[in-house]
Amino acid sequence: MISNTIQFVHNNKIFKIKNPDPNKTILDFIRNDLKKTGTKEGCAEGGCGACTVVLGELKEKKIIYKSINSCISFLPIIDQKQLILIENLSVQKNKLHPIQNAMVKFHGSQCGFCTPGFVMSMFAMYKNFSNFNDETINETLSGNLCRCTGYRPIIDAAKSLNSKNHDDHFKKNEKKIVNLLKQIKERDIEISYKDRKYFAPKSLSNLKKIIKENHNTKFLNGGTDLSLEVTKERGDIKKIISLNSVKELKFVKITKNFIEVGSGVSLYEFQNLIKSYYSDFYNILKRYGSVQIRNVGTLGGNIVTASPIGDSLPLLLSLDSKIKIQTLKKIITIPLNEFFLSYRKTKLKKREFLYSIKIPINKQNHFKAYKISRRFDDDISSVCASFNFLIKKNVIVKANIAYGGMSEIPKRAYTIEKALINSTFSEETFFKAKNLIDKDFSPIDDMRASKNYRVDVAKNLIMKFFYEVSNKKNLRVNS
Ligand SMILES: Cc1cc2nc3c(=O)[nH]c(=O)nc-3n(C[C@H](O)[C@H](O)[C@H](O)COP(=O)(O)OP(=O)(O)OC[C@H]3O[C@@H](n4cnc5c(N)ncnc54)[C@H](O)[C@@H]3O)c2cc1C
Ligand code: FES
Ligand code: FES
Repeated sequence: MISNTIQFVHNNKIFKIKNPDPNKTILDFIRNDLKKTGTKEGCAEGGCGACTVVLGELKEKKIIYKSINSCISFLPIIDQKQLILIENLSVQKNKLHPIQNAMVKFHGSQCGFCTPGFVMSMFAMYKNFSNFNDETINETLSGNLCRCTGYRPIIDAAKSLNSKNHDDHFKKNEKKIVNLLKQIKERDIEISYKDRKYFAPKSLSNLKKIIKENHNTKFLNGGTDLSLEVTKERGDIKKIISLNSVKELKFVKITKNFIEVGSGVSLYEFQNLIKSYYSDFYNILKRYGSVQIRNVGTLGGNIVTASPIGDSLPLLLSLDSKIKIQTLKKIITIPLNEFFLSYRKTKLKKREFLYSIKIPINKQNHFKAYKISRRFDDDISSVCASFNFLIKKNVIVKANIAYGGMSEIPKRAYTIEKALINSTFSEETFFKAKNLIDKDFSPIDDMRASKNYRVDVAKNLIMKFFYEVSNKKNLRVNS
């Protein structure tokens, strides 16, 4: 079944919009069409959290609450979801939600511009977790900026919610919302708005059909990169094919030797999955954008974006990951290493898409990763490095090293690797090897870091890896 009408639950009702503008953001819809102005626009690029709203999604008869940046999310993605705005939190005038009460009690707001965003991020946390420690609170709030209150009172407000009974009007209404969400039938979406088209197929076979029949299309996954073509560059995307509703691209397969994730799996889901295999992968992902970004952004999108500073890329490269590419006829598997050609150029041809990512599991290896950025949270890397080593009887048997931010593509450090393999695992070996960095990379100066800084950091991270493995101890600011 195909429909040109998106449907979502809001204010305990099903809303229907026929052929909405696929380039319109949820934020514009909320402020201009719904006339709800509690949700603010700060940066319009996903960086400040002022526009945070929460989407309720049905998962096994339960609602999962996801905070998102409405400024960089296209309206059609709310199909089959519940849209929760700051205005929905208090049921009646002068009766605030427990989160709003906590913000008042702990003086968590001054000018108030950032406040709705903070409250909505906390709301998603309050609904999804029965208890939250400092780590969860810091992670939850990492995508929200406040320029006048300072974070301490806001964090105190969040902490105080632990002692609260989590019953609220959303809990009381949950059954009703679940029933409303169930009433919205699963169907493919095809929207025509002026000269713009939007397709959201539910199955791989329908996706392939749409790709065959339509030219000059752009794939949309989480949209945390693509949407900026509209919100920042003031561009116009004529034909969008959303991969995000295709169930077959959201799978996770775990065997003894590898983890395979569909290209539509969100970074937030992936971070929790990879944690028990490669804890440093998890640590890096926790500093990737914000919860709002990772709730929608995908591992597949990060790979295809092919940014030299894409955070997952050096990690996946050092782990010898492979990717599966779906062509119109078949699936081909290639090492990720062969995928990046030049600055943001990949091997992907027109009408092909990334199907999945396969990551080997090597429990006996030493895997470590480091992200160096100007700000700890919600910042882009200046340099990101990843190390995957097999050491036997103090001899380096395998040495995989990959860097982001050091060249026009994320890349392995082959010269250094060659110098390390079959050498003794010693300070002297690493000291000599690090000086070969110029043979592998010639980074550029840019606003994030100078060339010299990048080279020095890259060398120091080699030594840091050595000291951490030899001392069996992490040398981190946050360890
Ligand atoms: C505020 C903010 C903070 C960020 N922080 C970080 C960060 O810390 N680290 C970092 O690495 N990145 C960061 N990013 C960049 C961004 O999150 C990533 O590039 C993201 O992973 C893209 O994934 P997506 O699913 O949102 O992709 P989309 O935006 O949907 O797509 C990106 C591109 O890939 C294509 N594409 C997506 N999936 C497929 C597929 N399966 N097959 C073929 N083509 C596909 C799209 O057509 C598009 O060209 C940040 C972005 C923002 C806005
Ligand atoms: S307005 Fe800043 S994140 Fe959306
Ligand atoms: S209260 Fe003013 S920006 Fe946060």
